[in-house]
Amino acid sequence: MVSAMAGPELKQSAKLVLPGGKEATLPVVVGTEDEHAIDIKSLRTETGYITLDSGYMNTGSTTSAITYLDGEQGILRYRGYSIEDLAEHSDFVETSYLLINGKLPTKDERVKFSTMLTRHSLIHEDMHQFFAGYPPTSHPMAVLSAMVTSMSAYYPDSLDRNSAIDLHITRLLSKVRTIAAFAYKKSIGQPLMYPKNSLKYCANFLHMMFAVPSEDYEVSPILEKALNQLLILHADHEQNCSTSTVRMVGSSGANLYASIASGILALWGPLHGGANQAVIEMLEEIKLAGGDYKKFIDDVKNKRDNRRLMGFGHRVYKNFDPRAKILKKMCDEVLAHLGVKDPLLDLAKGMEEIALRDDYFISKKLYPNVDFYSGIIYRALGIPTNMFTVMFALGRLPGWIAHWKEMVESPDTKIGRPRQIYTGEQLRKFTPIEQR
Ligand code: CMC
Repeated sequence: MVSAMAGPELKQSAKLVLPGGKEATLPVVVGTEDEHAIDIKSLRTETGYITLDSGYMNTGSTTSAITYLDGEQGILRYRGYSIEDLAEHSDFVETSYLLINGKLPTKDERVKFSTMLTRHSLIHEDMHQFFAGYPPTSHPMAVLSAMVTSMSAYYPDSLDRNSAIDLHITRLLSKVRTIAAFAYKKSIGQPLMYPKNSLKYCANFLHMMFAVPSEDYEVSPILEKALNQLLILHADHEQNCSTSTVRMVGSSGANLYASIASGILALWGPLHGGANQAVIEMLEEIKLAGGDYKKFIDDVKNKRDNRRLMGFGHRVYKNFDPRAKILKKMCDEVLAHLGVKDPLLDLAKGMEEIALRDDYFISKKLYPNVDFYSGIIYRALGIPTNMFTVMFALGRLPGWIAHWKEMVESPDTKIGRPRQIYTGEQLRKFTPIEQR
């Protein structure tokens, strides 16, 4: 395990002139990639002012040594390694180790980590009853989040901040995979398949998803590799909505399972991880209506019914999303390998081509994001649409864990508690009900 990098440099300062001429001198923080921030910690105490930044468009909530992202250049790196390099040469377990521990594992560390993940793959037998209690129509994200919260009931020592964190982390990484597959089996009424210790992380997941007790099931190496790559691409993305939620909830002292469950719920929304499901639903809707995607793009541009081109646009990427680039190539390769011809892929490509040439999308810097092609690959792997966001959660898990760990280990962490500017009524007298 390596210690976090040296803290950010504090050499320069910025001067803020407030109405009335009062001035505040604020330190400037510079990161290792020359990113600059104004540290406003002392602003309110010194001046009485706070900052207002709806949607946190310009607000850094923390310093972090986990992921570097440059939205203008389309750069994404985990612990200094480029996403392209990791997707090509690493696998999901190794990348998880990297994110959580800050360095690539040695051979011994790698074996130990994998063995621990294999040993902790079973969930408590009593938890099986939960699956039985959900209606078959339940969205698997509802089941997943509830089950992850429930893990804190099965491992009550997690409520103690001094309990063995590494063990909780291993349990989570291993068991979320089992829970995700069980949620799917339950939704289609098939018997739950127990994990198989002879299989690696991703192969084991595919086994639990697609094997049935009555038949032999051999995991396809193509599927296993594709899944590893997909999960690596999703593994972290610095302070996005769900990760910030994990950090916010964790900052109150809530246990790891509760904090991660809150991240799963934040991810569910269609503007975040839920977009991968929304992309396929959008493409299916267009196909069902006759395939006129040009009309759909026109509707989006005219904001008809508040339509958006799902899988396009990103808060941070304003050039291209490096994950989408890898996924587009991977999509062609995986479908060709599997011999799958998906009309939704042709639709998606047609829409991308038009959008990338259209002024509306160019002027707003809207490009395909990670969710535009990932759903088509998941479909080809046989994963049903309502499981797509669960797959995103499975991939993002090591990132959430790494951020939670970085937060609890930092001496600078304080409970997350933003302020506000009140815009409601001023003091008024209570009116008894008869007089209203
Ligand atoms: N289709 C059409 N117009 C769009 C889209 C889109 N996908 N995304 C943004 N716009 C327009 C938006 O209408 C607004 O236009 P105007 O200035 O005329 O009001 C402008 O672009 C800026 O949009 P915004 O919503 O203010 O930008 P944001 O940074 O707050 O939102 C976003 C980012 C990802 C929520 C948004 O681009 C979006 O809704 N995309 C579709 C959903 C999606 O694919 N989400 C997955 C994101 S990647 C996975 C992840 O990391 O979560």
